[in-house]
Amino acid sequence: MAPAVQLTNRYTAVPDIVAAKGAGQNIAEFKKEFALDEENQVRLVKISHMRYQHPDLAEITQFLQDFGMVVAKQTEDKVWYRGYSTDQYVHYAQEGPRKFLGGTFEVQSFADLEMAANLPGATTIEELTDTPGGGHIVTVTDPARFPVNFIHGQTPVQGGDVPPKLIVNYEQEKPRKRAFQRFEPGPAAVHKLGHFGLCVTDFSSQLDFYITNFNIIPRDFLYVEEDGQKRKVAVFAYIDRGEDYVDHHTFFLGTAGSNHVHHCFFEVHDFDTQELASKGYKSVWGVGRHILGSQIFDYWWDTTGNMIEHYADGDLVNDQTPINFEPAGDESLAVWGTRVAQSILGLNVSPSFLVRAQTGR
Ligand SMILES: [Fe+2]
Repeated sequence: MAPAVQLTNRYTAVPDIVAAKGAGQNIAEFKKEFALDEENQVRLVKISHMRYQHPDLAEITQFLQDFGMVVAKQTEDKVWYRGYSTDQYVHYAQEGPRKFLGGTFEVQSFADLEMAANLPGATTIEELTDTPGGGHIVTVTDPARFPVNFIHGQTPVQGGDVPPKLIVNYEQEKPRKRAFQRFEPGPAAVHKLGHFGLCVTDFSSQLDFYITNFNIIPRDFLYVEEDGQKRKVAVFAYIDRGEDYVDHHTFFLGTAGSNHVHHCFFEVHDFDTQELASKGYKSVWGVGRHILGSQIFDYWWDTTGNMIEHYADGDLVNDQTPINFEPAGDESLAVWGTRVAQSILGLNVSPSFLVRAQTGR
């Protein structure tokens, strides 16, 4: 008799409670432990768009179009880029020296915007008169001196067509008959912004600022063991909308030797389209599949030297999903993929950008 073949690539959709291995923390307990005063928190609805300053708008516009975005509006020194979601824009660029202008969250009401404007170091509420969809915006400076923006009243745009789902032939189930897999080459069309990440020297005060002032809740903590104690060094956090299902994480914080922006990350339809490599752009890491969030990903350097990521097939969670604790390490970042790049772990600017900045070439 032939010996049984052990399948080495078994897949399971593991329930969130099982994934936490009995060591997860209940969200309600977490809120109680940190005495979170939800009445006095700025209530976030979702993540809206990223804001950056770029020295060469023509160059970054070409890159972002090749990355999968479309120009929504352009003036002499500003560009707004959209995806095919209902967001008017997912990325905003203005001309000037390389600078991070912050991620932007949509808030529930104008009163939430006013609450944000009352935080220390906040700007006054500004009406957006020249931007697609209008609305009002406030910028707050967090404890690590990063700007973070809050928007309300933007009119949504009608979402575009969604790309068709792939028909996949498995070993015993082959629905695709007399039809061939053909793709029209082109950029991986961006749907929406998924998250952004910051590296900070003072992890706990930065985390405290975000969980105290906003409905941002940790989803996964990464820790290192020191003298028998688990020291938290990174967090994947999500926007708490109660029972409603939301993306696994919308915000990332990691401990580092300096305060710097890590990356931002945009949703695409699937993993079957990509043309950045053929255009000569520099890959950072991937393709691979993350463990925390489950996304298939690829990371790139944009032409200004910032890190930017595509993702597809991310997890959804709600307030019944326990907060998970995992040991920090390269192996916690991906279940498969190319080797983890050093840039993911520390560097915050592309090596070619550094050379250009130093040599002027
Ligand atoms: Fe990411």
